[in-house]
Amino acid sequence: MTAARRDNWDSSLYDDQHSFVWRAGADLVDLLHPEPGERILDLGCGTGHLTAKIAENGARVTGLDSSPSMIAQARQNFPGLHFTLADARDFRSDETFDAVFSNAALHWIHDAEAVVRCVASVLKSGGRLVLEMGARGNIRRIRQVIESVFAEAGRAPNCPWFFPSVAEYSTLLEKHGFDVRTAQTFDRWTKLEHPGRGLREWIEMFAGSYFEGIPNGDRHVLIGHIEERLRPELYVDGAWFADYRRLRIEAVNSVEGKPAVSELRTS
Ligand code: BEZ
Repeated sequence: MTAARRDNWDSSLYDDQHSFVWRAGADLVDLLHPEPGERILDLGCGTGHLTAKIAENGARVTGLDSSPSMIAQARQNFPGLHFTLADARDFRSDETFDAVFSNAALHWIHDAEAVVRCVASVLKSGGRLVLEMGARGNIRRIRQVIESVFAEAGRAPNCPWFFPSVAEYSTLLEKHGFDVRTAQTFDRWTKLEHPGRGLREWIEMFAGSYFEGIPNGDRHVLIGHIEERLRPELYVDGAWFADYRRLRIEAVNSVEGKPAVSELRTS
């Protein structure tokens, strides 16, 4: 689920406590509809669970992620599959792919144009891109409250995410030769694991860049303030929820005669 950022992931914690990320993306694989023998790239594959689901039906899948710890965990989880360490903004391949798939990864990358350029360069003409990511308005309340607690504490927020609208991402895809077939946003409030600690664990796993350089004690207090403010809205019937809004796009690469490019860069 990471495609280009610092490797600050605890991938086994991610697998143990945040499996909702890939579980929620399982029906995106149905939308991809992988066929036996197809070459598919799973961009931002994280610990490889959806890569494995794509491979179930006989597709030949490569999982790509920029996090060494995610790739190590993916290789351990699924030793029979192919995983490569690379940056989604800057990768190449000698082979072209029938499809590129991406779940919950692209909102970590602000330079979306670099990603789309790379994807276009590795997709066959007529190849499809199927993606889901956080949409404009994703985690609106979590983000607003984190940022207001930081402002009140006199700290500058360091938001790591890019949540585009349908129009913004579709325009970018069209600029790079894609035909957008479907594009939608929808709310998917997501129940977090561990009833009492769910939001705290989510913040520690996913919002770490806000807290860089802040000592543990202060961090604990800030997260406590965030929890208290969000509790009336996001703690429902004994469980924490994240106010996710998804952007889901299916697009087809319509550029003819693209040149082959060199190999996927690996570690
Ligand atoms: C998301 O899947 O939308 C998401 C996950 C972690 C942080 C921010 C967004």
